[in-house]
Amino acid sequence: MLDREETATAAFAMVGLPARGKTYVARRVARYLSWLGHPTRVFNIGAYRREKYGAYQPHEFFDPDNPVGHGALLELAMLALDDMLSWLAEQPGRVGIYDATNSTRERRRIVRDRCKKAGMPLVFIESICNDPAVIDANVRETKISSPDYRFMEAEDAMRDFRSRIAHYERAYEPISDTSKSYIKIIDVGRQVVLNRIHGYLPARLAPLLINLHVAPRPIYLTRHGESMANGEGTLGGDSDLTPRGEAYARSLARFISSAGPEGRVTVWTSRLKRTDQTAAPLGRRTRAWRALDEIDAGICDGKTYNECKAAMPDEWAARARDKFHYRYPRGESYEDVIQRLDPVVIELERQRDPVLVIGHQAVLRMLYAYLMDKPPQECTRVSIPLHTVIQLTPTAYGCEERRFQLDPQLPVEIATRASG
Ligand code: SIN
Repeated sequence: MLDREETATAAFAMVGLPARGKTYVARRVARYLSWLGHPTRVFNIGAYRREKYGAYQPHEFFDPDNPVGHGALLELAMLALDDMLSWLAEQPGRVGIYDATNSTRERRRIVRDRCKKAGMPLVFIESICNDPAVIDANVRETKISSPDYRFMEAEDAMRDFRSRIAHYERAYEPISDTSKSYIKIIDVGRQVVLNRIHGYLPARLAPLLINLHVAPRPIYLTRHGESMANGEGTLGGDSDLTPRGEAYARSLARFISSAGPEGRVTVWTSRLKRTDQTAAPLGRRTRAWRALDEIDAGICDGKTYNECKAAMPDEWAARARDKFHYRYPRGESYEDVIQRLDPVVIELERQRDPVLVIGHQAVLRMLYAYLMDKPPQECTRVSIPLHTVIQLTPTAYGCEERRFQLDPQLPVEIATRASG
């Protein structure tokens, strides 16, 4: 369970011009904090606007000199902020992310005053990007396909969105008051400024924000090939691969070399022999992480599920009731596994090349939860079969999943789905 300091309630408010990746950052922060066990929700003003006024509003609506549009946006902004503060007040330990432009000093003063009145610590996160190519790519990838422009030709939508940006640019005042708490992300992590950042949660975000990038690349998750312990049905241990497991290792090497440019795949294993042996036919350098070792089954290590159940029926019932929080005696819980996977996730975010993670069932379930943005509690039974590669490709607001069964020898795509 999280301790008291770790359950601190907090609010973050995004700042920045349209198409500067605010929603991207807000969602990534929400995904990361939720995964670490802090219930986090994003309150996006655009969603409130679409609900109240319908999806499309011409760029004139966003002109700060248009009193109708300005008044409507202020009202929506306050509605979203009040909803966030009420949600935060319902239960300690929640984190709210207020996803709006908050692009003037006056607007930020209002937000700060309301949070202060509600006793809610607030940190602004400003996203600044001056590279026209990045802005254009962002508009094309996330804006013109958004509900705002569903019925418009792409080029008309681009023009309208550029005019919308220009309205905001006229009124934009970047954060400059160094007496307040803020984080500035400049040019997608080229520079990250932390100003007056105190406390557990805001500090915990720094490694994530420093490493975020938008380069698309797949992440491959696979369990080791079949091991002797798999054959015997025992938990844990450090056994060798069976001949069938060795055949999978060879299929995996063929799959990876046909999947992308040779040499560009970074390979990570655990410290256990079965993952190292699965990586061997790849013939490349690997990084062995202790953090990727299988969940520690404590006193159940080396026993079969049936032996554990017969010897410790109460323990087994507790595990069945709450598999996520259940901790094996002298071992670990899934919740513990997440805490030790934190550096692996940060390093995954940093990598720009494809990464192949050769791991174990419980550990991969928790990495899968993070990458697919699913509640980890719901992933303790997610299927991570042997001899299957799960290819996860992060997209702007989600992740695309493909599964390949490599046993027998030829890869067969067996499922495709997307999150976000
Ligand atoms: C929006 O309506 O899409 C954003 C409004 C804002 O935060 O300025």
